[in-house]
Amino acid sequence: MLQHKKILLGVTGSIAAYKSALLARELQRRGAEVRVIMTPSATEFITPLTLATLTGHRVYSDFTENKDSGEWTNHVELGLWGDLFLIAPATAQTLSAMVAGTCDNFLMAVHLSSRCPVIAAPAMDLDMFQHDATQTNLKTLQKRGVPIIEPESGPLASGLDGKGRMAEPETIADWLESWFQSQAPLAGKKVVMTAGPTHEPIDAVRFIGNRSSGKMGFALATALKQSGANVHLISGPVQLSDPLGVHVTRVETAVEMHAAALEAFKTADIGIATAAVADFRAKSSASEKLHRNEMPAAIELHENPDILADWGKQKRNDQLLVGFALESDDGVNSAKSKLERKNLDMIVLNSTADPGAGFGTDTNKISVFEQNGNSHIFELKSKEEVAQDIVQLIQIQLQQ
Ligand SMILES: Cc1cc2nc3c(=O)[nH]c(=O)nc-3n(C[C@H](O)[C@H](O)[C@H](O)COP(=O)(O)O)c2cc1C
Repeated sequence: MLQHKKILLGVTGSIAAYKSALLARELQRRGAEVRVIMTPSATEFITPLTLATLTGHRVYSDFTENKDSGEWTNHVELGLWGDLFLIAPATAQTLSAMVAGTCDNFLMAVHLSSRCPVIAAPAMDLDMFQHDATQTNLKTLQKRGVPIIEPESGPLASGLDGKGRMAEPETIADWLESWFQSQAPLAGKKVVMTAGPTHEPIDAVRFIGNRSSGKMGFALATALKQSGANVHLISGPVQLSDPLGVHVTRVETAVEMHAAALEAFKTADIGIATAAVADFRAKSSASEKLHRNEMPAAIELHENPDILADWGKQKRNDQLLVGFALESDDGVNSAKSKLERKNLDMIVLNSTADPGAGFGTDTNKISVFEQNGNSHIFELKSKEEVAQDIVQLIQIQLQQ
């Protein structure tokens, strides 16, 4: 959840300021971009040089950059840059200044001008933390929508023992991940999706399959997860590793995929069928490898269950169903007919006739048709970008 997130890290004058160095590193390790702002007092606890070296960016602590030339640092621009302003550690003084709207240092100016959410992780001695003034300030900030990352209990720099230690960098990073997750557009939505091909056995080593690589489905699972959804991916045999944070069930055959998909759809908000499921399986298969002279002249086929059609029959009014259609011609008519026949809300059409689209490629070109009559034609893009487009359309559908 922290991937590519722009985090302004405000550091104030607490002994816990040394932990800001570890915090900056942890946020970066999880994919965030970090810029540090320090109060003048914080620079007495940890040097700007340390934080600038660790983050790879200059540290902001003063309004003016060069007093002779009159160059100044634009606090408004910096405030607009961040997706989040995290003040960690936040001293009693800074918390009180935040409540009062004081603007007597650079950090406080960014606090007033930033439009992004502000989160504070207090750090102070136990009596300072328990003081009515501090507790009232924390409550006021929370009422204004500033979440507080609670300090922990333990030995304090003063030699006392109690609540006031700033939360550990890992705990703060975990907290932020959950927070971003809760703010994400698909937060709380349960998605079940299928991906990849299925393998229908003929004997112990041979199967009926197709060229699906699973790349589109896996890219979509990743994009949905990044939008906050809880994703259950049911995948046929593919050479891809599990997308981060996605619950993956691996299956071989259409019958296995059908059973897992129907079960999971019961509790899902959204069903998405990207798998290229074999329409037929061999009526019987050998448990041993058949030798050349044992192979039948013809393989009798048996129809596989239709996962998408069965999802469509099971679909409740509060569920959204998205299908994929892969065609070898322009395919618009057959995609639109599948949309109706299988009771879908949306169908994504891709055609092997389009260069760079379809199975095995890293790119795709899609057209999307919706039950409400809307249609969207997209250019050839990477499968990751295509996944973002589909997630956006799903979000719009959910708002309708
Ligand atoms: C050694 C030392 C440690 C301090 N630790 C803290 C602390 O953990 N929390 C706190 O609220 N104030 C602490 N203070 C007091 C603040 O540094 C002081 O209130 C300062 O004005 C805070 O300014 P700022 O919030 O603008 O950074 C400490 C002071 C000293 C000298």
